Amino acid sequence: MAGRIPESFIDDLVSATDIAEIIEHYVPLKRAGKEFKACCPFHDEKTPSFTVVPDKQFYHCFGCGAHGTAVGFLMDYANMEFVEAVEELARRSGREVPREGGGERGPREDLEPVFIALERANAYFQRQLRRHPRASRAVEYLKGRGLSGRIAAEFQLGFAPPGRDGVLRELGIDDSARATLVRAGLLVERDGDRPYDRFRDRIIFPIHDARGRVAGFGARIIDSGEPKYLNSPETPVFRKGRELYGLWRARRAGRSPARLLVVEGYMDVVALVQSGIDYAVATLGTAATEAHVQRLFRAVNDVVFCFDGDEAGRRAAWRAVENTLPSMKAGRQVSFLFLPEGEDPDSLVRTEGSGAFESRLDDALPLSRFLFDHLAAGVDLGTAEGGARFLDHLRPHLERTPAGPYRHQLVAQIGELFAARVPAGPYRRQIESWFDDLSRDDSSRGLGRLGNRMQAHTERLRGSESPATRAVRMLLHEPSLASEAAGVEGICAADVADADLLADLIEILHARPDLRTGGLFEHYRRHEWFQRIEVLAHGTPELSDPELLRGEFAGCLRWVLDRAEHLRAQRRVDELKSRRPSDLSNDERREFTELTARRAVNRGGAVSRGR
Ligand code: UTP
Ligand code: MN
Repeated sequence: MAGRIPESFIDDLVSATDIAEIIEHYVPLKRAGKEFKACCPFHDEKTPSFTVVPDKQFYHCFGCGAHGTAVGFLMDYANMEFVEAVEELARRSGREVPREGGGERGPREDLEPVFIALERANAYFQRQLRRHPRASRAVEYLKGRGLSGRIAAEFQLGFAPPGRDGVLRELGIDDSARATLVRAGLLVERDGDRPYDRFRDRIIFPIHDARGRVAGFGARIIDSGEPKYLNSPETPVFRKGRELYGLWRARRAGRSPARLLVVEGYMDVVALVQSGIDYAVATLGTAATEAHVQRLFRAVNDVVFCFDGDEAGRRAAWRAVENTLPSMKAGRQVSFLFLPEGEDPDSLVRTEGSGAFESRLDDALPLSRFLFDHLAAGVDLGTAEGGARFLDHLRPHLERTPAGPYRHQLVAQIGELFAARVPAGPYRRQIESWFDDLSRDDSSRGLGRLGNRMQAHTERLRGSESPATRAVRMLLHEPSLASEAAGVEGICAADVADADLLADLIEILHARPDLRTGGLFEHYRRHEWFQRIEVLAHGTPELSDPELLRGEFAGCLRWVLDRAEHLRAQRRVDELKSRRPSDLSNDERREFTELTARRAVNRGGAVSRGR
């Protein structure tokens, strides 16, 4: 999209930036001579090994190896895109980011007229609210909703007069100006017809971007009618999935709120701010997106999402959870407030006042609690199958949460909530020990590992392991067991989970009896089975006594081979049965009798126990 930012500018910017000052913003630093120290924000540690070296314009963690420049820090810690990080540093040092031309249009020059048109339209709408002869209905409506003149002015509320050519006549002086107004979303142009005003006879809520520029508008019908709100369409400067109504205002002029309250409606924000809750923002009629969440966390560490108490509110809240998890890290906090049905923040804060409303915020459900309640709904956690289902539901969400101290804590909290729903006893102890294992979550090992361990726990909880799977698990821990197997013939024919893997392992270990567990891992590292091997390697076998282990392994192997033989016999019986008895040779007849007799013996035995 954009023209490139020249390399030389970035070099200059990085060397002009005090990296310690940037990082200090997010992580408290302690001076140590010419350097600064902190507990590393990228991994869990008790003693500080995170070091910022202003002379080198660099930070480095001796614990986990994280390192980089100020730009890198903003990207990795504050989740900014590269260009955003550069813009942020430039803003702090009062520089303009230059763009190299070259093929594409430079967006700065290009978008400037759009921003100017939006700004002018905003001034025009505000003037109309004060002066237009038809504005009194709008003014009365706003008064009727309890808005003061001061708050209307603070939010720059305006009025789009009736008629199709208010903005058009005021700002559309020539073709080029009209084209800009169309790009800005202020005029609608259909099939080359003369363009006309998008917003007519509505109350205007300007929406400012993070830098305070007007990027779009929400426009409410006066009294009632459909659609209640018209919004600017997606334009080069306005994307509904990113902007937050009221955010710029909440952070304006050195204000830095400790938390942000995210509500659903423009009117909610205005009413909350009027009553003194001046850290309210709203999404623009969409559920909170990942981009919203990143923007929120760039401003504060504490976010409260507020929803209606109805089904739709719950659904929207769940979307917010899903979009929040990827941004979670230590020090950040998210909670969910559900309002009584039929109330919204606007109505509630007016009836009960800001004090009572704020005390609701303190009782909002923490993310861990909402996540747990949502996933556990309708699941009987008291049974192993229910518990396994819960873990199945939980796993993808934990995998989306960045590894590190935050996830560690989240897992522990969920484990506690889970255990509290299970009666005391061995099952509960098992769950506690698993969550204990899961929360020993080492960020340097990446995201995959936790998921693998969970999958292993889940399979064991279900007791759904086939004997082949159990045999693989034992082999991975004790490769010498492979000598118990005569060969691999027939194993694959058993047609159970992991039979192929078992056969392969035995084959390799027969060829390379010197391989230990580590050697096996490396052997499979680039193989499609590697992921599966990692899953299976996680649980230790229940048996530690070598003799018992050997016996169990031999038992599993026998089961697999018996099953293979059973399947072979069944196929043979079916084949013989499909022929006319008179066509069978004497040998075949004898074979048939033998096979069916053996099948009768086996029925109810090891084979048809059939796990
Ligand atoms: P609400 O219906 O809760 O709006 O929709 P509100 O802001 O509380 O307005 P009042 O109190 O009825 O005046 C929440 C948000 O959903 C978007 C708007 O962003 C609105 O603020 N919305 C709603 C639309 O974009 N279009 C609509 O027709 C309705
Ligand atoms: Mn409302």
